[in-house]
Amino acid sequence: MDDNGRGSLLSLSAFFFLLVVRATTATDDDDDSSVMSKFLDGLSSPPQGWSSRTSYCKWTGVSCDSSSHVTSISLESMSLSGTLPSDLSPLSRLKSVSLQRNSLSGSIPSFANLASLEELFLDNNNFTDIPSGAFQGLTSLQVLSVSNNPNLQPWMIPEDLKESSGLVTLYASDANVVGSLPDFFHSLSSLQHLRLSYNNLTGSLPASLGGSSIQTLWLNNQEQGLSGTLNVLSGMTQLSQAWLHKNQFTGPVPDLSKCESLFDLQLRDNLLTGIVPASLTSLSNIQNVSLDNNKLQGPIPDNSRNIKLTYHGVDTFCKTSAGPCDPQVTTLLEVAGALGYPMTLADSWSGNDACQGWIFVTCQGGKVTTVALSKQHFIGAISPSFGNLTSLRSLLLNDNNLTGSIPDSLAKLPDLEMLDVSNNNLSGLVPKFPSKVKLVTSGNPLLGKKLSSGGGSGAGGLGGSSNSAGAIAGIVITVLIIAGVVAFILFRCFHSKSSCRKTWSVKSSVHKAESSKGRAKSPQNQGNIRNNDFLIFDNGNVMVSIHVLRQVTNNFFPGNIIGRGGFGTVYRGVFEDGMEIAVKRMESSAMSDKGIHEFQAEISVLTQVRHRHLVALLGFCINGNERLLVYEFMPRGTLSQHVFEWRERQLPPLSWKQRLTIAVDVARGVEYLHSLAQQSFIHRDLKPSNILLGDDMRAKVADFGLVRNAPDGKYSVETRLAGTFGYLAPEYAATGKVTTKVDIFAFGVILMELITGRKALDDTVSDERSHLVSWFRRILINKEDLSKVIDEALDLDEETLQSITKVAELSGHCTAREPQQRPDMGHVVNILSPLIEQWRPESRYELEEDGLGMSDISLNMSLPQVLQRWQSEGTSTMYSNGTTTTSSYGLSQTDSSTPSKPSTFKDSMQSTNRR
Ligand SMILES: Nc1ncnc2c1ncn2[C@@H]1O[C@H](COP(=O)(O)OP(=O)(O)OP(=O)(O)O)[C@@H](O)[C@H]1O
Ligand SMILES: *[C@@H]1O[C@H](CO)[C@@H](O)[C@H](O)[C@H]1NC(C)=O
Ligand SMILES: *[C@@H]1O[C@H](CO)[C@@H](O)[C@H](O)[C@H]1NC(C)=O
Ligand SMILES: *[C@@H]1O[C@H](CO)[C@@H](O)[C@H](O)[C@H]1NC(C)=O
Ligand SMILES: *[C@@H]1O[C@H](CO)[C@@H](O)[C@H](O)[C@H]1NC(C)=O
Ligand SMILES: *[C@@H]1O[C@H](CO)[C@@H](O)[C@H](O)[C@H]1NC(C)=O
Ligand SMILES: [Mg+2]
Repeated sequence: MDDNGRGSLLSLSAFFFLLVVRATTATDDDDDSSVMSKFLDGLSSPPQGWSSRTSYCKWTGVSCDSSSHVTSISLESMSLSGTLPSDLSPLSRLKSVSLQRNSLSGSIPSFANLASLEELFLDNNNFTDIPSGAFQGLTSLQVLSVSNNPNLQPWMIPEDLKESSGLVTLYASDANVVGSLPDFFHSLSSLQHLRLSYNNLTGSLPASLGGSSIQTLWLNNQEQGLSGTLNVLSGMTQLSQAWLHKNQFTGPVPDLSKCESLFDLQLRDNLLTGIVPASLTSLSNIQNVSLDNNKLQGPIPDNSRNIKLTYHGVDTFCKTSAGPCDPQVTTLLEVAGALGYPMTLADSWSGNDACQGWIFVTCQGGKVTTVALSKQHFIGAISPSFGNLTSLRSLLLNDNNLTGSIPDSLAKLPDLEMLDVSNNNLSGLVPKFPSKVKLVTSGNPLLGKKLSSGGGSGAGGLGGSSNSAGAIAGIVITVLIIAGVVAFILFRCFHSKSSCRKTWSVKSSVHKAESSKGRAKSPQNQGNIRNNDFLIFDNGNVMVSIHVLRQVTNNFFPGNIIGRGGFGTVYRGVFEDGMEIAVKRMESSAMSDKGIHEFQAEISVLTQVRHRHLVALLGFCINGNERLLVYEFMPRGTLSQHVFEWRERQLPPLSWKQRLTIAVDVARGVEYLHSLAQQSFIHRDLKPSNILLGDDMRAKVADFGLVRNAPDGKYSVETRLAGTFGYLAPEYAATGKVTTKVDIFAFGVILMELITGRKALDDTVSDERSHLVSWFRRILINKEDLSKVIDEALDLDEETLQSITKVAELSGHCTAREPQQRPDMGHVVNILSPLIEQWRPESRYELEEDGLGMSDISLNMSLPQVLQRWQSEGTSTMYSNGTTTTSSYGLSQTDSSTPSKPSTFKDSMQSTNRR
């Protein structure tokens, strides 16, 4: 017993000892070392510089971090042959592996659980198999390319890749992939490029492709062929290139009108039927469509825009030239459409005369009198278009699998004598047919009853009606929003003399990144970002397409997140030309009508308000459920980061001069809000996280989502409480009554924060100190020694201390209990700005201030800089005072000296941007 206990104690401590040894010695890079020497041994003729006598970190193409862990292996196109070690997963810091374009053979190694691995290029080799689990746990993976390994043992796309939620590129063409596509694309929300051509994939397109962000979809030339319909493509709104040729797809070409970026659609050599949607050839970006060797019906698609459209071998269109089909043909094709355009009908229902040998159709005198579609395993619905076949006498639809109801139009057919719909799955009420009609409806258990949803108890009925009330409210809100946006656009159009739409073509950083890598480059991939991405209106407001926002944020890549707030996530976006933006994306959970309300409030306010110390709204986007705002990007982040988080962020602390300058900037911005001529605005959520800094450390006030428009004259509105604890004026917190004085209060709190370096609310200190306002006011009132509470990050000299004392006094007035005792913002500006005057000789800012900030724009400023400048400076003052310098830099990009208005400037911007 005792011995036993001691024994286990010993082995336990031995175990811990081993653990400690393992953790403290360089076991990990020993791992790297042994894996790398296996790597060397496996290669038939290793690259130059690879030798067991030198450290692997010095080998050609190998990079290590400071602790001798391999981070990347780059051996692209080195004519390597031989095999790889079976397991590379001990190389725990590996970020990038590039082994493409060699003649490596044998098994692909396991990369399992390499959580840092971002890129894995194995394509164009002669590998023979992929062990199961080789790609599991690759949580950082962005690119996986195994294309052109034709001798691989048949393998399936592993479900494991679901864990690689940041995957952008997946290439496995000509790699002997079999089985069906996994239904995991909802987990791969960043996936943009999927290439699986020349394999033996089977089965249908999974539903989760529908919501994906895939732009390039290559599934062409499968040995046996993918099957099922293409309907899921309708929801793939990011699609720009879809190669689906040489498969077994059935059903119609889906409606792709939401795929605005689509330029290349290859559908040849499938089993597609039905009418090609007219919208296909009028998609704004479409260039290339192949439909050859299918069973397409109806009219030949219109090609007045002269895109590259081919349909060789399609002998089922109604005519040999474009233009509408005969009315009876059109009607019967609608009938076929309601059945999903079955192949049995497509083979026969071709040409422009339904009385010329169409299967199941009988005519008399050129009019269709009988349609007999019995016992064909048809699924789908009975088309109301049957009602157009006015000579129809007999309609037999029995013994299929039809659903839906019997259309009323059938009961109006004047000559109908026989209708057999027996043995289907029809439902709903049977319309009232004239008595001469022989009606057979047996074998439809749901037919003749009220629609299933109505059949419940009283409670059920109540639920139903409140649901429908909700739905109606939803529709009304949607209509109002649409009307609002339309009105807004029309308003802008009528207010500008020049044309409403101007286009500005942009290229994405994503593509730039891709091509600069050189290996993930796709020759077909250019040109899928196009005009109409931005609609620029004359006053500088822009409606931005969701497509562009996705592009510039790398598909809302988590790495691009710059912050989160009450209403959603803020992303950084970068255009190809370097222009940066901040995109505030409302989270769907915040998309109650409150969120929508804030969104519209923000739009309407920001479009009216432009000031150098207010963050400019560059554009907005309403995309289905999503609401996005595009702001000018403020490169130095928030004031709170600089005052409270400078140590963690390794920023220099702000000097008193800088703090004072920021305070004046904020005061000026808010003063402007409060004193707008027609309307006055109250910010209601002033705080350091809503004060953003530019490269010059000058400040702008952000976040007008909570701004309320105070009615004329009466600067008080009673609304629900909004704002942030710690900054709330007492009367506002108590009564919800809001005046411009709540902003003064919050501003006073910010001044205190600037002085003390402490947050308005700080749970980490004692209770008496945790509420900054109470604590600091007590110090002021008791005339305690201020220098003890001043932020330690500040260098104090006599002059600074004097200045701080004045500001402290002001902060006390601003946070007075009674709103009437607080000064207004104009007064605050008047007190603060002379304090910076002291340093004026050192400050270039004040000079700008008077010269409308334009004087320092030089001719070598980049366009994005100019744009940004122009956007933020473009106040109404600028238009009205005529003599702005806008034209000079606008023209600097083009030619000569005619003065131009901002719109012309943008025209020139457009042309230069396209270069
Ligand atoms: N225009 C911008 N430029 C640069 N960074 C920005 C910009 N707008 C916001 N941010 C960053 O995103 C973060 C979140 O902003 P957001 O306005 O959503 O939240 P918040 O200001 O912290 O809180 P609230 O929701 O109450 O406004 C900010 O703290 C800031 O770091
Ligand atoms: C690929 O490997 C197979 C054997 O697995 C061999 O027959 C073939 O020649 C190799 N191909 C190339 C291009 O090296
Ligand atoms: C393709 O896959 C199917 C079904 O999985 C199989 O029957 C067929 O033999 C495969 N074809 C080739 C060429 O491997
Ligand atoms: C159309 O597709 C073909 C082949 O798929 C390609 O060679 C051609 O460049 C494409 N044309 C356009 C305009 O994209
Ligand atoms: C056919 O019927 C449908 C639905 O009843 C109707 O909308 C359409 O206009 C009709 N078409 C013709 C050519 O009469
Ligand atoms: C009818 O269709 C439903 C779904 O569309 C299917 O589940 C059912 O098996 C079909 N029945 C017959 C007899 O084909
Ligand atoms: Mg904010």
